Amino acid sequence: MITCSAPGKTHLIGEHAVVYGEPAIIISVGKRAYISAEKSESVKIYAQDINQSGEFSISELKEFAEKLQQLWDNCFETKDFAPLYSLLKNEHLGHIKAMIANTMAELDINAPFSLKINSNIPIGSGLGSSAALSVAVPKVLSELFRKNLTLEEINQIAYKIESLAHGTPSGGDNSICCYGGALWFKKGTPNVIEPLHLDFTMKNFVLVFTGIPKLTTGELVSNVRSLDPEYRDMRIKQLGAYTYEMRDCLTEQNFTRIKELMNLAQELLAELGVSIEAIDEIHNAVKSIGGGAKLSGAGGGGYMVCYHEDLQLLKKFIKELGYVPEQVELGVEGVRVEK
Ligand code: PMV
Repeated sequence: MITCSAPGKTHLIGEHAVVYGEPAIIISVGKRAYISAEKSESVKIYAQDINQSGEFSISELKEFAEKLQQLWDNCFETKDFAPLYSLLKNEHLGHIKAMIANTMAELDINAPFSLKINSNIPIGSGLGSSAALSVAVPKVLSELFRKNLTLEEINQIAYKIESLAHGTPSGGDNSICCYGGALWFKKGTPNVIEPLHLDFTMKNFVLVFTGIPKLTTGELVSNVRSLDPEYRDMRIKQLGAYTYEMRDCLTEQNFTRIKELMNLAQELLAELGVSIEAIDEIHNAVKSIGGGAKLSGAGGGGYMVCYHEDLQLLKKFIKELGYVPEQVELGVEGVRVEK
């Protein structure tokens, strides 16, 4: 039996704008998705954290991969991914089945295996639960079937898998789950993926959960896309400018401006319609005590990332608002084989 794991992530800045070619700064977090695999007589999946299992034939998975690819192509043409999202929602273990079917097709795997998934990353909360799996699935199957994939190859498959689930993602989420640490990510041909060395800065950040989002990442990205282009693009450009500035501020350890940039980014994300009342409430409160707070990821709920030089004050304040400040390790290792 082989076990691999990949971390979750948080966006320090640049989410949504990254879809339009602006940069993002994304940091891995110390919550991981674990997948164990072994050869078996049929393809069996057991998703422990959602307590669901399924058994599939190789031919069924092959057909599913082809069907998804066709549907994705159609959706891409019509610029409407709703049919793809609804297929995955309505299919038993749809999302994970898509990851496995696609990886098998990419790696030309024709032999059965069983997979056990155990993830500590909360699902659909902006912490990269799906991206971590989209990286860990090709990694564990590459190990099991001795395909010797490089990190770049794993990341390419992960991006395809993420596209099947989210339409046209930027590729930032799967990249950080693959490489770990902290990344400067910019979508393009090719993508710019540069490690950032932030070890000194990360102690005074906390994550705060604001509730399960009502909309998926794909739906939130689509909502932003359907805004008036002039209104949207002004804000996307400004988010991009703040992200460049954030990179300099991280290097200079200019925390006064780092906090301001987090707050300014949050306010633009709210104008793009991806914030909710709870996020606005925490943002305003943390800002009022001199901290920085913003949503992280697609928004609509999920996790926020907050910063204050006085960590105890920040935690106390968040607790008083009725939320739980979570201090998680940041900048952890990317996808790996577990010993
Ligand atoms: O909420 P998450 O973890 O799915 O993050 C999505 C980040 C976006 O920028 C909104 C989308 C993307 O593809 O980068």
